[in-house]
Amino acid sequence: METMRWQDDCLVLLDQTLLPGEVRYIQCRDVDTVCAAIRRLAVRGAPAIGAAAAYGLALGARSLDCADSQSFLSRVREIADRLAATRPTAVNLHWALRRLLDKMTAALPATPQQLKELLLAEARAIYDEDYRANQAMGRHGAELLPEQAGVLTHCNAGALATAGFGTALGVIRAAHQQGKKIHVYADETRPLLQGARLTTWELLQEGIPVTLLTDNMAGYLMALGKVDAVIVGADRITRNGDVANKIGTYSVAVLAREHGIPFYVAAPLSTIDLSLASGQEIPIEQRAPEEVTCIGGVRVAPAGVEVWNPAFDVTPARLVTAIITERGVYRPPYTETLPALFAQDC
Ligand code: MRU
Repeated sequence: METMRWQDDCLVLLDQTLLPGEVRYIQCRDVDTVCAAIRRLAVRGAPAIGAAAAYGLALGARSLDCADSQSFLSRVREIADRLAATRPTAVNLHWALRRLLDKMTAALPATPQQLKELLLAEARAIYDEDYRANQAMGRHGAELLPEQAGVLTHCNAGALATAGFGTALGVIRAAHQQGKKIHVYADETRPLLQGARLTTWELLQEGIPVTLLTDNMAGYLMALGKVDAVIVGADRITRNGDVANKIGTYSVAVLAREHGIPFYVAAPLSTIDLSLASGQEIPIEQRAPEEVTCIGGVRVAPAGVEVWNPAFDVTPARLVTAIITERGVYRPPYTETLPALFAQDC
């Protein structure tokens, strides 16, 4: 199932809000449609948002009619600002836009037409690289899992959240393909149920054994000895190894520590933000109260109740056993291992 594709000068996105009930694609012919799709989580998951924003910028740039490159460049920067404002936490979005803008600046002097082609080529490269990164992450991460294991995951860090294969689910996929007997426990992931709707859907399609549980059941499951490892994705990892991921991840990490279970984070280099010293600096997205007061469009809380709805939380580095990237598995002290990872030759 393709999360997105570029087709006939149009970005086609799988509408993940409708899954698993309906498979429908959105035709994005302008930047506003891409921005709206990112905001309402039609496309979601840090790497997928990054690739969609990159294609969105290429799409917006194609509609510009500028005689000179300087005015083209400033209009493209405005479009990038609009895309960047859609979601604050996943750094892949900002990383991808920055990569396209830098590429364009480095190509000057070039004609607007040449820059348009360059932006599209770079968006395609981001998408393709993400797929390869996930496969590499899968190979590295699978080595951490025993021949037989119960693996708990939170939210959806699968093919749907990336260009394909997935980060956390990529590790699980790779281990399954190697013949390891992996049983996945998927947290439903309130409020928007990415675990219940998307993770289970992906795994069932591939015949990977999966059991769904509500978020508040994870502790008891661990106490019963059913979980050998936790693997999650990430929206942003700071220089010290703190990890922003879907709300509820921190609680899972605390539970894993209490039960002596390894807590792994699988994420590409595009999710690591060395410019931030710690997780306290990560902007955390706050979302609409209706996501909490309603389930599947049905109101479950009294009208007028005050709601707190952060979309992400931060897991401190001390709870993270290892970070799995496309370049290998990195362990504490992250203040040393993460910067060294970027210095390393590919
Ligand atoms: O709000 P979402 O659905 O975009 O949140 C997604 C997550 O938190 C994922 O775990 C994270 O982006 C990693 S996806 C490979």
